[in-house]
Amino acid sequence: MSIVNFNDILPSARAEKRAVGAFNIANYETAKAVVMAAEAENAPVIIQVYQRLMEDRFIASLGAMMRDMAERSSVPVAVHLDHGVSLEQVKLAIDCGFTSVMLDGSQLPFEENVELTRKAAEYAHEFGVTIEGEIGHVPLNGTEGAENIPLSTPDEARQFALATGVDALAVSVGTAHGYYAKAPEISVDRAREINAVVDIPLVLHGGSDTPMDKVREVIRNGFAKVNVATEFQHAFQLKLQNDINALNGKFLPLDKIMIQPTAAAAEHLRKLIRFFSDIA
Ligand code: 13P
Repeated sequence: MSIVNFNDILPSARAEKRAVGAFNIANYETAKAVVMAAEAENAPVIIQVYQRLMEDRFIASLGAMMRDMAERSSVPVAVHLDHGVSLEQVKLAIDCGFTSVMLDGSQLPFEENVELTRKAAEYAHEFGVTIEGEIGHVPLNGTEGAENIPLSTPDEARQFALATGVDALAVSVGTAHGYYAKAPEISVDRAREINAVVDIPLVLHGGSDTPMDKVREVIRNGFAKVNVATEFQHAFQLKLQNDINALNGKFLPLDKIMIQPTAAAAEHLRKLIRFFSDIA
């Protein structure tokens, strides 16, 4: 049994200047790809789900499946809610067996973000569940605000971490979610300044398509969790599309169709996990 929460895997990663990959899954195959990749690299990993999946009628079934995979895995696996938007979602994720949650109040005024995140942290901790908060917003590429991204300040990050009691903190150092139209400007200096005043692991959102040398530098500066969704899901999608096209309309049972895309996603994830865990 190797289901864990953030405190089992992130503080040690931070101390060793490496990061744990946190990958957004959508179904059985993508979850399996994450666990397969982590086992192949003998590294801890985080399976996380987009908050919109919490609206699915069968989210409890997905939660049970992720927990079961984590328990059967030979490496430590945390099951996490990504970008939770409300206390209700946090509670639902905990009811569904998640070992970790995020409350993302980054678009609220500072005091409201603190208040909501603090309440969520108190609730999560009662159940032995760890929690991630966000201060300074990491936008979605292609949306307003994805250019000239405001960076989190060391002072607000320190105050927020102390006032909320979160176990991990997402901050903005210049990344955005999804593919970039033009190369992002990642501030390693800001990462270093925030890390100097915050005692908990930092989280890098928007890990896809981000210059690897910058990712390496921020990991060396306290970012112990790196989120990647777009890149690895796209590897899955492209292989699936290619294989379906090659079938030319012929029938192949779906479980067989899924084998190669799952393997392609796992291969992509293995490279990321290797990079995050051996940053030297
Ligand atoms: P990407 O889709 O850019 O990899 O971002 C993932 C993420 O940060 C999920 O919270």
